[in-house]
Amino acid sequence: MKDASPQTIYLSDYQPYPFRIARVDLTFGLAPRATRVHSRIEFAPNPARPGRHDLFLHGEKLRLHSARIDGKPVAAEAMAITDEGLTVTARALPDGPFLWEAEVEIDPEGNTALEGLYMSGGMYCTQCEAEGFRKITYYPDRPDVMAPFKVRIESDLPVLLSNGNPVAKGAGWAEWNDPWPKPAYLFALVAGNLVNLPDSFTTRSGRKVDLNIWVRPGDLDRCAFAMDSLIRSMKWDEDVYGREYDLDVFNIVAVDDFNMGAMENKGLNIFNSKLVLASPETATDLDFERIEGVIAHEYFHNWTGNRITCRDWFQLCLKEGLTVFRDQQFTSDMRSGPVKRIEDVLTLRARQFREDMGPLAHPPRPDHFVEINNFYTATVYEKGAEVIGMLKRLVGDDGYARALDLYFERHDGEAATIEDWLKVFEDATGRDLTQFRRWYTDAGTPRLTVAEDWAPGAGGGTFTLTFTQVTPPTPGQDIKPPRVIPVAVGLLNPNGDEVVPTTVLEMTEATQSFAFEGLASRPVASILRGFSAPVVLERAALAAERAFLLAHDTDPFNRWEAGRALAKDVLVRMVTEDAAPSEDYLSALGRLLADEALDPAFRALCLRLPSEDDLAQTLAEAGRSPDPDRIHAAREDLARAIATRFEGPLAQTYEALADAGPFSPDAAAAGRRALRVAALALLNRIDGGARAAALFERATNMTESAAALACLIEADRAEPALAAFHARWKENRLVIDKWFMLQVVHAAPERAAEVAERLAAHPDFDWKNPNRARALLGGLAANHAGFHAASGAAYRFYADWLLRLDALNPQIAARLSTAFETWARYDADRRALVAAELERIRATPGLSRDLSEMTGRILG
Ligand code: ARG
Ligand code: ZN
Repeated sequence: MKDASPQTIYLSDYQPYPFRIARVDLTFGLAPRATRVHSRIEFAPNPARPGRHDLFLHGEKLRLHSARIDGKPVAAEAMAITDEGLTVTARALPDGPFLWEAEVEIDPEGNTALEGLYMSGGMYCTQCEAEGFRKITYYPDRPDVMAPFKVRIESDLPVLLSNGNPVAKGAGWAEWNDPWPKPAYLFALVAGNLVNLPDSFTTRSGRKVDLNIWVRPGDLDRCAFAMDSLIRSMKWDEDVYGREYDLDVFNIVAVDDFNMGAMENKGLNIFNSKLVLASPETATDLDFERIEGVIAHEYFHNWTGNRITCRDWFQLCLKEGLTVFRDQQFTSDMRSGPVKRIEDVLTLRARQFREDMGPLAHPPRPDHFVEINNFYTATVYEKGAEVIGMLKRLVGDDGYARALDLYFERHDGEAATIEDWLKVFEDATGRDLTQFRRWYTDAGTPRLTVAEDWAPGAGGGTFTLTFTQVTPPTPGQDIKPPRVIPVAVGLLNPNGDEVVPTTVLEMTEATQSFAFEGLASRPVASILRGFSAPVVLERAALAAERAFLLAHDTDPFNRWEAGRALAKDVLVRMVTEDAAPSEDYLSALGRLLADEALDPAFRALCLRLPSEDDLAQTLAEAGRSPDPDRIHAAREDLARAIATRFEGPLAQTYEALADAGPFSPDAAAAGRRALRVAALALLNRIDGGARAAALFERATNMTESAAALACLIEADRAEPALAAFHARWKENRLVIDKWFMLQVVHAAPERAAEVAERLAAHPDFDWKNPNRARALLGGLAANHAGFHAASGAAYRFYADWLLRLDALNPQIAARLSTAFETWARYDADRRALVAAELERIRATPGLSRDLSEMTGRILG
C-alpha cells in the first residue's frame, strides 16, 4: 500500500538510535526472483539513549521467513510489521547485548526502481544510498549507525564482490570482510559474468592495493582512461590532503542501468557505465573530463563520506559539498584552473541558481524533507562546494589545511554534522563562523549591487565601492539576514595595468563601503574575481568598460565574465528592443578570436553564447515574462551575425585546428577540439552544413562526430548521417544515447515534441534504462524553445512519460520533473498549460512519494 499522506521528516526531531551494532554478518543466496538474505546483527544498548527502547528496524518489500533473538524465535505478539519496517517490543529484548538473526526473501529481478538489490543486464548489483538497504534486509538504515560487515555470497556466477577485503572463495561462493565501520548506505554487492582491467597502486606508506575495473566482456577495451584517472586520484589525495587508501583492494564496477552517476560504496564503487567507458571513437572530450572527475569524486569519498560520514541525511552536503569541492580542485590541477572555474560557474548558474530562484529552492542543509532522494540537488552538491570555497578564501590556504587536518583527526570513524565541520574551522583558525553558518541554513542566491565613487585628491584619489546585498525570499524563508560575502576585487589602470592586486573584501552588513586611497587616476574595477562567492552581481557597467575588462583583466574568470555580460546585454536588447548586436561586443569578440596567445579552451568558452534558459532567467529576474520563441530567434540571429562578420577568421581557426596525429584526451588537445567545434557551430549558420557534412565523413573522434551531427540536424540535412551513425553504433548503448539526445536537443523548436514522440516509438527506446530515458526526456527539456512550445505539446508528452516512469522508477521520474521548476517565469498561457499537467500528475492515484513531493513543491 502507498502512503496516503507521506510524512515530513524534520532535522529538529533527530535522536540517536537506541542501539549500537558491534558487527554484521550477511549471507546472500542469490536467485533472480527469490534471493535469500540471512543476517546476524550484534546489538547492544546505546549509552547515548538511556532507558529501555523498542527495537525498530527499517524494511521495505521484504518477505520475512524467520526472526530470532539470541537463537530463539521472536514471538509473533512481540513483533509488529508495517510498510516501513519491523518493531520488536522492548519487553521482548534482553537487557544487555543481543544477537538478532533474520532470514528474508527479496526479488532483484522485479526491482525496477533500481534501489536495493537489482539486476542489470544479467548481473546483480546494489544501490543503497540513501535508503536502499532497507530493501535488502531489516536493519537500522540510517547513517549514524555504523558497523563492520562480513558478507558471504552464494551464486554460480563467476565474479562475486562486496565491500572490504576478500577473505576466501570457492566454487559457488565468496566471502568478504570490511573492517571499517560503515553505515548501511555504503553496503554493496555485485555478482555477474564480468571481466576486469587490473592494476595496482602502492600507497605512500607502502601498502600495495589491487585495483580492478569490472565490466561486461565486450567493454574491456574502454576502461584504461578510468583506471588512469583512479591512480591519479589516489596519488593526488595523498599529495594534497595527506589521505591514504585503507584496504587491500579497490574495485570499480560499471553497470548499464543506474539511477545516477556513481556511488562510493566502501572498497566497491559502482558506476553508471557512461562514467567509466571511454575511447576516442565513442566518448567526447566532455565525457573524458566527467569520467576523470567522477572517478576522483567517488574515490575521494573514501575519506570525506566513508571514514567520516553524515549523522543524518540533512547533513548530506557535509560529504557531497566537500567531495565536489575536492574533485573540482583535482580537475583544476589536472587541467586548466581558469577553464575549470568557468565551467563550474556555468553549471552552478544553469542548475543551482535556477533551482534557488524557483519553487524548489532549499538551503545546502535543508531542515525537512519528505523523500531524501529529492535532495541530491545542485544546491546540496554544487552550492555546498561553493560554500567551502568561500570558507577557504576567508581563512586562507593555511587555515583551510589546518582545519581539514583537524577534521580528519577529530572525526575519523564518526558520523558528523555541519556544526562539527564549522567547529574545526573555528578551532583551527580562531575565527567566529556564526554568521557564516547562514550559508548552510538559508536558501536563495544573494543579489549584490555595487556603486562606484571616485574622488580625486591632491595626494591621490579615493575610489570607493559600496555594496548592497539582498536575498529574495524562498519557500518557507521570508526574511534573509545579511551574510558574510567574500568579494575578491582588483583595480586596473586605464592602460590595463593592475594597480591594486586581488584583495578579498569581507562584506558582513546589508550595505558596506570599501575605499581604496592614493590612486593616480580613476581605476576600472574587476569585481568578484574568480567568482569568489555564489551571488548575482548587479553592476550597471557600460559596454565599453566590459569590453575593456574582456581585453585587459588579469583575472581570467572575470575576463570571461566580462564577455559573457556583454553577450547577455546584447541578447537581452535583441529580444526586448529588436536591437542589432552591439559593435563593442562584436569587435571585442573578434580580437579575442584572433588572440593566438590565449588558451584555445578559453577562447572556445568565450565563443559559446549564453543559453536560452539563461536568457529566460535573466529576463524573468528583470520582471519580464520571457518569450521562448523570441529568445531562440535572437540567439540564432546573434550567432549568424558573428559568423557573417568573422567568417574568415572562424574558417581559418576551424581549418588550422584540424586534428593531426594520434588522439589524446588531455586538456590541451581537448581545448583545441573545443575551439574547432565552436567555430564550426557558428559557421554552420551560414554554410548550410557543408563543413559539418565533410567533417562527419572524416571525423575519427566522438567530439567531432557528435558536433558534426548536431550541426547537420540544425541545418536540417541529417537523415543520411543519422542512419549511418545508428548503423555504426547500434551495439553501443552509450553512443546510441547520444543519437537520441542530439536529435531532440537540436530539433527545430516547432518540431521538438514530434521528434521526441517519434523517437519514443523507436525500437531502441528502452525507457526502462535510465540513461536512455534521460537522453530523450532530458534532451527535450534542454531544447528550451521546443519544450516551451506554445501548443503545450511538449509539456503533455513529458508529463505522460513522467507518469509512466513513476510507476517503475520513482527516482528517475522525480528527477526529470525538475524540467517544470521554472514554469512561473512564463506567460499566463504557458503557466496554465504547465499547471494543468502538474495537476494531472498530482491527481494520479498511486503516485510515488518522490514524484508527489516534487509536483507538490513545484506547484507551490
Ligand atoms: N553519493 C553518490 C555520489 O555523490 C550519489 C548517490 C545519489 N543517491 C541518490 N539517491 N540520488 O557520488
Ligand atoms: Zn558524492
